[in-house]
Amino acid sequence: MNIALIGYGRMGKAIEKIARERGHDIAFILDKETTTGDLSKAEVAINFSVPDAAVANLKLCFDAGVPVVCGTTGWLDQQAEIHAYCSAKNCGFLYASNFSIGVNLFFQLNEKLAQLMKNHRETYTPLLEETHHIHKLDAPSGTAISLAEGICKNDPSLPRWTMNKDDEKGLQIVAHREGEVPGTHRITYSSKIDELHIEHKAHSREGFAFGAVIAAEWLNGKNGIFSMNDVLNL
Ligand SMILES: NC(=O)c1ccc[n+]([C@@H]2O[C@H](COP(=O)([O-])OP(=O)(O)OC[C@H]3O[C@@H](n4cnc5c(N)ncnc54)[C@H](OP(=O)(O)O)[C@@H]3O)[C@@H](O)[C@H]2O)c1
Repeated sequence: MNIALIGYGRMGKAIEKIARERGHDIAFILDKETTTGDLSKAEVAINFSVPDAAVANLKLCFDAGVPVVCGTTGWLDQQAEIHAYCSAKNCGFLYASNFSIGVNLFFQLNEKLAQLMKNHRETYTPLLEETHHIHKLDAPSGTAISLAEGICKNDPSLPRWTMNKDDEKGLQIVAHREGEVPGTHRITYSSKIDELHIEHKAHSREGFAFGAVIAAEWLNGKNGIFSMNDVLNL
């Protein structure tokens, strides 16, 4: 398969390594200052650029008829526009806030736990914490937003997520930025007498990169809007 890499930073380079190991070729690379290859030769694009450039880069690929796997976070206020643009171009699009297989299983576990906890909200208070490296541009992380949406949709007593400590009705998210941490997400339910938590901790970027390449292999030749649930049959 011929792949276009949109964004050639930490993730773009990790994806290139895994894609080549799996026998794929890199037909095109677009980074902030450099462009190599030919986008029209790509069968699928994998976009891990910066939040500000995500929408323009997605449209560039759809205009060229190249379906896109997108891991860039921090642009979801324009998601409806991108879905409409992709559909109008009869192209394929797959966004995931997190491509690691473990996190996608963790999303399911999080929703199950929220369903159990919704009947015990007078006892347990939830808190969502995420920790990432100091270079990360957006906060909270896209993965934290997905987890928060998974909790709020299963628990009507939590109408929204928030990073404002004074918003007592919202599900609290706290974002920590430390060193080179690839990504840790923890949901804690605390009561006066005990505490329960679930956590996913990425040891490296490899899991995100592997999931993105698997998703690109799955998206090749498809039109429509998809998620990792489709890829993993969850
Ligand atoms: N979904 C997931 O599983 C997952 C996992 C990890 C990370 N992410 C997300 O993926 C994105 C990239 O993460 P990263 O750690 O690889 O960041 P990074 O190392 O900063 O890489 C981003 C790259 O995009 C380049 N870039 C800047 N403007 C561009 C433009 N207009 N067009 C194309 N490329 C451009 C940057 O170039 P310069 O450095 O020259 O500006 C940089 O090389 C972030 O949004 C992050 O949150 C998602």
